[in-house]
Amino acid sequence: MTFHLVNPAGNSKPALYESLLQNAAAVFEGERNAVANAANLGALIWHVLPNLNWAGFYFWSGKDLVLGPFQGKVACVRIDLARGVCGRAASLRQTQIVPDVHAFPGHIACDPDSRSEIVIPLTLGERLLGVLDLDSPLPDRFDRADAAGLEALALAWIQGSDHA
Ligand code: SME
Repeated sequence: MTFHLVNPAGNSKPALYESLLQNAAAVFEGERNAVANAANLGALIWHVLPNLNWAGFYFWSGKDLVLGPFQGKVACVRIDLARGVCGRAASLRQTQIVPDVHAFPGHIACDPDSRSEIVIPLTLGERLLGVLDLDSPLPDRFDRADAAGLEALALAWIQGSDHA
């Protein structure tokens, strides 16, 4: 399959996220495998959003968060719900924006280049599916516009995939 990225109309965050959402919908078309769709969504995010050093998924195992498809350096495989930015987003079911990871108690430094981070919880009703995690080498990289755009992409993945 050859896939052509829809180019954003501009470089504003809403334009980038609108373009990502269109591309994600096209990539998910006819495919409901959750891992495959997560892998392609991670690749889209990685190639479209600037200033990232890690982008990927952790899936809820019923016991902990386990590394899923990602782009970036080798990462820690299992994260307890009581630990890190990922654990906090998953346990509170709330998007976490961390402008300075060094100031976040319990931050898990998978890549020492990371300076800021955003984590989106993935839920289906009451059920926790996992988290979508993005890291940046720039401090204060993520804001509410990123949260809104990534939450929309996460929802597209949740609704566009089967969750056994
Ligand atoms: N920093 C995350 C761990 C995952 S890595 O960033 C890929 C955390 O504190 O939960």
